[in-house]
Amino acid sequence: MPNTTRKMAFADEFIYAELVEEVENLLVEDAVAINLSPRPMITGTDHPAIVPAWKSTWLRGGTIKSAERVALIKVVRTTNLGGAGLRGWDWLGNRIKSFPRDTPLYISPFDYCGEIVTDPFVFTNERAAPEKEQTFDLRLNLWWSPGDTDCFIHNEHPFLEIHTQIHGNGRMQKFKDNDEVTLYEDIPVTIGATHDPFCRVTGENEWTYPWHRYYADTDCVWLAIELHPKA
Ligand SMILES: [Fe+2]
Repeated sequence: MPNTTRKMAFADEFIYAELVEEVENLLVEDAVAINLSPRPMITGTDHPAIVPAWKSTWLRGGTIKSAERVALIKVVRTTNLGGAGLRGWDWLGNRIKSFPRDTPLYISPFDYCGEIVTDPFVFTNERAAPEKEQTFDLRLNLWWSPGDTDCFIHNEHPFLEIHTQIHGNGRMQKFKDNDEVTLYEDIPVTIGATHDPFCRVTGENEWTYPWHRYYADTDCVWLAIELHPKA
C-alpha cells in the first residue's frame, strides 16, 4: 500500500510527526522530510532530484515522488515548547548518573520504526557499494534544549547515529579530547539538515566515535536516528 502513514511516538500538539512508508507522489505542505532508508528519496515534479540515503530536506509545498520510508516532522507550536520535560519527555540526567546536574537536555519517547538492512560501512560512507549487509533496528527520538546549551561531550554508543535539525540552530562538534577547548570540527545544522555520520566501523558490530557533542545555539529540537544491530 503506497503512502502508509502513522503518527510517531513523539507527535503531540507541539510537534507534527508522521512516518510514511512506500512513499509515492506525496505533497508535503511544510515539514522536514528525512529519508530513513538506505535507498534514495526522489523529490520534485518538473525537476526531480535525489535526497541520498539517510539525508533530509525541508519541503514547503514540495512533492516526494518516491521513497522507501520517510519521517515528516515540524514544530507547529512554539509557545511553551520548552515545557517538554513537563509533558512526558525525560531529563537525560534521570537516565545517566554522570550527566551534568544542571544541563537542560530532554529526550522524547522512542519511536521504533522497524528493521532496516544495510552494510554499516556504506552507512558511514567508508564504502560505496554494499558488501556485507546486516539487519538493524531503527529507533528515533527527539531532543529538546534551550539556547546556549552544551549537550555533553561523549564518545561511546552501542549503535550507529546521526541527527537531523528540526527547529532552531545548533552545531555538531568534534573534539580531540573530552574537553571543549580541543574542538577541531564545528558543523552548523539548520532546519532540514542531517550531518554526515561521525562513526567509523572497526569490526563486527563495533564502531568508534570521536569525542563529540551537540550544541544548541538557539532553542532547538533535533532528531536522533539510531541503527541498533540485531542480536
Ligand atoms: Fe552522540
